[in-house]
Amino acid sequence: MQDQIDQYTAEINAFAPANADELETFRIKFLGTKGLIKDLFEQFKNVGPEEKRTFGKVLNQFKQLAEAKYNELKETHNSEPTTQNSDIDLTLPGDGFQVGSRHPLSLVRNEIIDIFKRLGFVVAEGPEIEDDWHNFSALNFPEEHPARDMQDTFFIKKNAGKDDIALRTHTSSVQVRMMENGKPPFRAIMPGRVYRNEAISARAHCFFHQVEGLYIDENVSFADLKQTLYHFVQELYGEGTQVRFRPSYFPFTEPSAEMDISCTICKGAGCNMCKYSGWVEILGCGMVDPNVLENCGIDSKKYTGFAFGMGMERIANLKYVIRDLRLFSENDERFLKQFQTEII
Ligand code: DAH
Repeated sequence: MQDQIDQYTAEINAFAPANADELETFRIKFLGTKGLIKDLFEQFKNVGPEEKRTFGKVLNQFKQLAEAKYNELKETHNSEPTTQNSDIDLTLPGDGFQVGSRHPLSLVRNEIIDIFKRLGFVVAEGPEIEDDWHNFSALNFPEEHPARDMQDTFFIKKNAGKDDIALRTHTSSVQVRMMENGKPPFRAIMPGRVYRNEAISARAHCFFHQVEGLYIDENVSFADLKQTLYHFVQELYGEGTQVRFRPSYFPFTEPSAEMDISCTICKGAGCNMCKYSGWVEILGCGMVDPNVLENCGIDSKKYTGFAFGMGMERIANLKYVIRDLRLFSENDERFLKQFQTEII
């Protein structure tokens, strides 16, 4: 056994591999699971007690030698290709790395979030599958009220009323969840996807995206609503963009309004985007109806607030002059590639 070890020791000391493959062969031969050292330890089990004492030490030293040699050589022969140890041409130009571009709706959503974050709004989300309460009843849509027909609903389970389950038709449902689960003041925007049973065309789609806004505190007035949205429009479409409010109706706000802005394409001169009126509608808004506050467990004598909701596709259309809603969901690279790429 001693002779064998001496012979191997000499072999190890003299070993000088030319490349990483030879080193690997060395590792397998000596240190592998079926290697020589393993073998010697097997033989060692059968020697007498006297020899055990001397050989134990010798064998361990030998093993350490082999390991040390291997580790030392590994440093110089690591398997990363270099100009020395491989025939790979490291000077060849690399393959181009294709960075995708952000979807226009993501760009718009991020911009809207940024503007409202600077005003102290937080971002909240809610489920896309909603019950009747959060999508309709809590928002002051009475059962069987024709206002429910304003939004053609995809029902998942329909039991005529309270137990209905549907794809949410608007992000206003997230307002309800927020108010039910927290305590005022609230200052939040809620972006998300919504669904309506509409025939798909250039101007309508069965799903689209909205951003809902909610501001509830003591002494919040319609003036706060106007100034917040005015500021938002200046930030999004540039200083000097005009706004106007028209009275409107939503079950969950009183009073309610729709907000128009001066056409971002023709600056009010008249074009086919604004149907030659100089104005384009961008959102619905109003003071949260006291019934909605009470439905969500908020004292409507103490708190008031405003809400607004806008379609993100509409905002993107006006920013990027996109005239066909279907482009947003068709994943056509020729369309998507035109938008600014953000390096993250
Ligand atoms: N939920 C409305 C819709 O989908 C939009 C809306 C209007 C939201 C007025 C609001 C609001 O919060 O105050 O058409």
